[in-house]
Amino acid sequence: MNKRRLYIETYGCQMNVSDSEVVVSIMQEKDIGITSCIDQADIILINTCSIRENAEQRVWGRLDVFRQVKKKRPDVLVGVIGCMAERLKERLLEKEKLVDIVVGPDAYRELPALMEEAEAGQQAINVLLSREETYADINPVRTGKNRVSAFVSIMRGCNNFCAYCVVPYTRGRERSRDPESILGEINELDEKGYREVTLLGQNVNSYLWKNGTKEAVISFADLLEKTALRFPGIRLRFSTSHPRDISDELLHVMARNSNICKHIHLPAQSGSSRILKLMNRGYSREKYLERIEAIRTIIPGCALSTDIITGFCSETEDDHQQTLSLMEEAGYDFAYMFKYSERPGTFAASKLKDDVPEDVKTKRLNEIITLQGSSSAVSKKADMGKTFEVLVEGTSKKSNKELYGRTSGNKVVVFPSGHFKPGDYVNVRITRVTPATLIGVTENTTGASNNH
Ligand code: SAH
Ligand code: SF4
Ligand code: F3S
Repeated sequence: MNKRRLYIETYGCQMNVSDSEVVVSIMQEKDIGITSCIDQADIILINTCSIRENAEQRVWGRLDVFRQVKKKRPDVLVGVIGCMAERLKERLLEKEKLVDIVVGPDAYRELPALMEEAEAGQQAINVLLSREETYADINPVRTGKNRVSAFVSIMRGCNNFCAYCVVPYTRGRERSRDPESILGEINELDEKGYREVTLLGQNVNSYLWKNGTKEAVISFADLLEKTALRFPGIRLRFSTSHPRDISDELLHVMARNSNICKHIHLPAQSGSSRILKLMNRGYSREKYLERIEAIRTIIPGCALSTDIITGFCSETEDDHQQTLSLMEEAGYDFAYMFKYSERPGTFAASKLKDDVPEDVKTKRLNEIITLQGSSSAVSKKADMGKTFEVLVEGTSKKSNKELYGRTSGNKVVVFPSGHFKPGDYVNVRITRVTPATLIGVTENTTGASNNH
C-alpha cells in the first residue's frame, strides 16, 4: 500500500506554526508523509485561529475549498485542529458535517487514532484541554522556509484573561515545558546548522519550571541566560512579553549576552489607563512607559515593537489620542494594529458593549497606521550609514544576486550575495532604506562567525 500523505495549512500565530510542526512529527511516527499538493493528500488538516473574526472567516472559506476536494475524492479526510476546534466542534461535525475530524491544541497525540475512527465512519473528536501537555518529548519536523531560523515552544496556554481575548479559552491553562527538553531541542537544531531560535509562549515572562524539589525553580530570565551561554553560536529571540511581567532581571540578562537579540515585542494594546483597566491588562499607561524607560536605560538601542487594539468597548476620542501619544513616546520600530473584534465567550463579550461604531474604528485604525508608518520611517532612516551584523536567511525574492537576513533588532536587510550563504553572519553597512527594508553593502566579514 502507498504511504499516506498529509496536507496541512496553518493560520494564526507562531505558536500555531510551531504546533503544526509537532503534528507533522506525530503523523510521521505513524508513517504518514507530508505533501504540499492538496490533490495528493489522504488527509487535509487546517490549523485554525480564533483571535479575530476575520481569522475565522478565512478558515470557513478554506473549508469550502476542501469540501470541493472531498466531493471529487470522498475518501479524503478533512480535519480542523487548533484554536477554533473547541468552540465550533458542534457546527463543524454535527450541524453542517463539514469535516471528519476535530482536534484541539492539547490533543494532537490522538490524531492518528482519530483518523482511524474517522475512516471507520465514526465521529472523531477530541478537544480536551490539558493542564500538563507540552509535547516536550516530540521533536517537531521543521517545515519553515529556511534552515536557519526555528521556533521552539517553551510554554502553552495563558492565565491572563485579558477581557477581549479568546486564547485562555482555546488553549487552556498556562504550563511551562521542562527546560532539559527545551535545551535538548535547541541542541539538535544547533547540530543541524540552525543559527536562530525564537522561544515561544503567549506570555514568556511568566515561564516557571519547578521540578518538584524546592531548589530548582527556573524563571524565564534563568532559562534565557542558560540557553544563551550553552549555545553561543545561536541567536535567541523570544515572544511574547507581557508588560506587567518584564523584569529588570530579564533586561540585564539581555544586555549582558551578545547572542540575545536586542528586540522586545511589548504589546501595549492601548495608551489609556482606563481602557487598560477594562481590558484587564494589569498595568497602567505610566507603568508601561516606565518599562520602556527601563528598556532604554538597560539596553540602549533595543528595538521595540507592539500590538495595538483600537476601538475597544467604550473607547473615546480622548482614549484614542492617548494611544497615539503613547505610540509617539515609545517610537516603535514596528507594530501590529487591529480593530477590536468581539469574541464569543470572553469577558468583554458578556459584560461590555462593543459600542465603538465600525467607521470610527476604521478611522482610528487608519490614524494609528499612519502614525506608525512615520515612526517606522524615522527608525529606518536612523539606520542609514550604520553597520549591522545580519544573519543571512535566504536569497532575496527580487534578485538571485542578493541575499536577505535580519539584524538583531529584527529589521530585514538586503545586500549583494558575494560569497555568502544562508546561516552566515555578515556585517552590512546600510546605504539605502525603503518602507519595508534596509539595503546595504557587505563589509569585510569572513562569513561564519559567532560574534554577535
Ligand atoms: N499573548 C500575546 C498576544 C496574543 S494575540 C499578548 O498578550 O500580547 C496577538 C494580538 O492580537 C494581541 O496582542 C492583541 O493585540 C490582538 N488581539 C487579541 N484579541 C483581539 C480581539 N478580540 N480583537 C482584536 N485584536 C485582538
Ligand atoms: Fe490573550 Fe492576554 Fe493571554 Fe495575550 S496575555 S494571550 S492577549 S489573554
Ligand atoms: Fe490565534 Fe490561537 Fe494563536 S487564537 S493567535 S492561533 S493562540
